[in-house]
Amino acid sequence: MQRPAVLTGEKVYLGRLALEDVPTITQHTANLELTTYLRGEGLVLGVEGTRAWVESTLKDTPDTVTLAILNFKHELVGAVDLRGINYQHGTSDLGIALYNPAHWDRGYGTEAVKLILAYGMYHHNLYNVMLKVFSFNPRAIRAYQKVGFREIGRRTGAICLGGRRFDEVFMEITRNDVHLEKSAMFRIPLEE
Ligand SMILES: CC(C)(COP(=O)(O)OP(=O)(O)OC[C@H]1O[C@@H](n2cnc3c(N)ncnc32)[C@H](O)[C@@H]1OP(=O)(O)O)[C@@H](O)C(=O)NCCC(=O)NCCS
Repeated sequence: MQRPAVLTGEKVYLGRLALEDVPTITQHTANLELTTYLRGEGLVLGVEGTRAWVESTLKDTPDTVTLAILNFKHELVGAVDLRGINYQHGTSDLGIALYNPAHWDRGYGTEAVKLILAYGMYHHNLYNVMLKVFSFNPRAIRAYQKVGFREIGRRTGAICLGGRRFDEVFMEITRNDVHLEKSAMFRIPLEE
């Protein structure tokens, strides 16, 4: 489904989620590999839970920005968010999921993170954005490193799967690491 683009990159664009996305999201969140990367859990939201979540993203909530990731065939690729935005201190957490494994490893995730980061830092004056990722997810860690995130610590053994313990890795990026002036999507002059 084609929809207005909020932020446009070279491989993907970001726009609003829509209720029409619910079946696609529900189909892909049945994939245990995906849900394990996201929450270290098995089954997650069903149709009703997914619908409620999509509806929540359409409401104006000051502390969360959630956007759909679409490719230029206008296919829903995933969703990316800034959550827990603190306007006093300019901090936020970031989350992302590309739903279909066929869309992984094509650079979509890296670009989507760059787009929403630049948006958050430019429009919401964010200074520090943090994320958490499981140590058994090297694809995500590599994608975040490509954007400029660096590891700042680990919660050792915080995830237990199949009797094995894995770390929760904490990563951050600051405004000083992001070159907004190189963000092609901004046509707004950054200096007078
Ligand atoms: C994590 C995610 C957002 C990354 O987006 P993506 O579009 O797949 O990532 P990119 O293609 O931009 O980059 C992936 C990088 O990881 C590398 N990679 C893939 N598998 C790897 C592995 N097993 N070990 C090390 N690196 C790996 C790729 O080669 C690529 O690096 P390169 O460009 O230097 O070659 C996406 O894969 C995703 O949503 N996965 C499922 C949900 C998830 O894990 N969400 C994040 C939870 S914290």
